[in-house]
Amino acid sequence: MKKAPGTLIFEYFNITPQKKFVPTHKMLKSILLLTAATLVTSQGQFQPSPGYFPVTGDDTIAGGIFCIPANDVSKYTAGTPAAAGGTGSESPTGTGPVTSGSGPYPAAMGTDPGLPNHTIYAPKTPPAGNLSMPFISWGNGACQTDGSQYRNLLTEIASHGYVVAADGLPTGSTGGQSKVQDSRDSINWAMKGGAKKYGNIDTSKIASAGHSCGGLEAMSVGYHDARVKLMILFNIAIFMDEKRYLLQELKVPVAWLVGGEKDMGFITSQKDYKLLPAGLPAYWASLDTGHGGTFSATNGGKQGKAAVAYLQWQFRGNATAKATCLDAKSKGSLVSDKWNVTYKNW
Ligand SMILES: *[C@@H]1O[C@H](CO)[C@@H](O)[C@H](O)[C@H]1NC(C)=O
Ligand SMILES: *[C@@H]1O[C@H](CO)[C@@H](O)[C@H](O)[C@H]1NC(C)=O
Ligand SMILES: *[C@@H]1O[C@H](CO)[C@@H](O)[C@H](O)[C@H]1NC(C)=O
Ligand SMILES: *[C@@H]1O[C@H](CO)[C@@H](O)[C@H](O)[C@H]1NC(C)=O
Repeated sequence: MKKAPGTLIFEYFNITPQKKFVPTHKMLKSILLLTAATLVTSQGQFQPSPGYFPVTGDDTIAGGIFCIPANDVSKYTAGTPAAAGGTGSESPTGTGPVTSGSGPYPAAMGTDPGLPNHTIYAPKTPPAGNLSMPFISWGNGACQTDGSQYRNLLTEIASHGYVVAADGLPTGSTGGQSKVQDSRDSINWAMKGGAKKYGNIDTSKIASAGHSCGGLEAMSVGYHDARVKLMILFNIAIFMDEKRYLLQELKVPVAWLVGGEKDMGFITSQKDYKLLPAGLPAYWASLDTGHGGTFSATNGGKQGKAAVAYLQWQFRGNATAKATCLDAKSKGSLVSDKWNVTYKNW
């Protein structure tokens, strides 16, 4: 393939086509449950204890201090609508084709030798240097180590002038689960200039985000880490009431994009939203997708649109994007897309 000078050569990277992923209820229920067996511990497990704030968000379990052991998930969802399954009226019916995203900077998936065991999403051609580009560290559902799992969503975000590093290579899960350190490795890499070949990275604009277990990893990596300026949790929130006191330590805006009452993050995210420190801005939106979201749809579907709008508002001060998120009456608002929206301190 002929390339423009300076074009990032994603074709040379080790890329596998996105697997056909048509989620079934069973798969979605097991998203957090998978591969718990291989947890390797090298430090004491965090024990909930109000008044005790660990120095970092690490823990022996995947997802970090805000998470629970994978084996315990069914205990927390038993007897709730979340136990019934992971889909809703807004769930995609299949996997949408991979595109370069809908944004002004056609993007692709690749790998980077400077950040082993991760997958990079970035514009194919570095945007002009006057576009400052935020950086996002991404954790996958079940904290799986397959960096291609959210390809449609993450390519869409990248096409709006972002660089995203997802945990795991794009070649499929290696069986283990990612840890907080994997997310931190991505942020360390970006801070040290590792991503500068993709464009003019603004290291004052770093977000952590993820789905399910990966969302809790995103909250855990941002805990006590002033480099992280935004947290976005997809379809998840803290499971254990005894861990919610940790929210007192958050200092940056939190957004939850959840999937209605069949989502294991639906009730819990509403609890967390209420328990944030006074004055901290927060955004909460819910669409009837169950736990599985709309990730597999082309460009990440309605979650892709919501995530881009939130990021463009937060990191680029885009007033149209802000209205999409906050103003139900604005054209193309998330409310008009059937999201229930709540926010505070904005
Ligand atoms: C990458 O992952 C493989 C398989 O999980 C592991 O053996 C290797 O040590 C990892 N490399 C780095 C640099 O983390
Ligand atoms: C960057 O500069 C070009 C050329 O002057 C201009 O067209 C473009 O709008 C600028 N972009 C930003 C993000 O400022
Ligand atoms: C939206 O809010 C309505 C009214 O509270 C509720 O019945 C519905 O389940 C909510 N839908 C989602 C997807 O959260
Ligand atoms: C703001 O966002 C809208 C919609 O996402 C987009 O069309 C527009 O170009 C953006 N404006 C700027 C100044 O980036």
